[in-house]
Amino acid sequence: MPQATISLHNKEFAPYLPEAQITAAVRDLAARINRDYAGQTPLFVAVLNGSFMFAADLLKDVTLDCEVAFIRVASYAGTSTTGEVKEILGLQEDVQGRHLIIVEDIVDTGHTMQAMLQQLRAQQPASVEVATLLIKPDCLQHELHIKYQGLAIPNDFVVGYGLDYDGLGRNYRDLYRVV
Ligand code: PRP
Repeated sequence: MPQATISLHNKEFAPYLPEAQITAAVRDLAARINRDYAGQTPLFVAVLNGSFMFAADLLKDVTLDCEVAFIRVASYAGTSTTGEVKEILGLQEDVQGRHLIIVEDIVDTGHTMQAMLQQLRAQQPASVEVATLLIKPDCLQHELHIKYQGLAIPNDFVVGYGLDYDGLGRNYRDLYRVV
């Protein structure tokens, strides 16, 4: 069971999804990926910072030959109507002809994923799919095909398991939501 309510900065967070439920969802995703990519050598592209814990647990259950890369995204306002233009930072690998699986902790509005998919597809990979632990269907503002979705959640602010509130909370094993 998750621990009691936690305080981060000025907010209180109540237990939401316990570690066991997260672990089960991660295992299911890994099993599907193992089946779908049998005989291939995908490149997992994990998006820092939030995905570090999910990526670590997911990859422990992947039994394929595979590679892992880590990227960050930089966003800056004013160059598009959404002010959400994002640029991929730190991708050293040549992704042309590779089977890519983007690993995210959460897809919220989808702005980040939309921008990443656009930029990665421009580099002509053989395929690109997305594995996200969490998705907020009510918040999604883009038509995105997210093949590997762990848990769909309502529009609550959540922390833990890699996700933060102003830098804090990433280290918790369970997920908490703001009270
Ligand atoms: C979070 C999350 C996604 C993005 C999702 O990252 O990891 O990258 O927001 O939101 P969206 O669908 O509305 O674009 P954040 O910018 O908080 O950085 P972090 O991963 O370092 O916490």
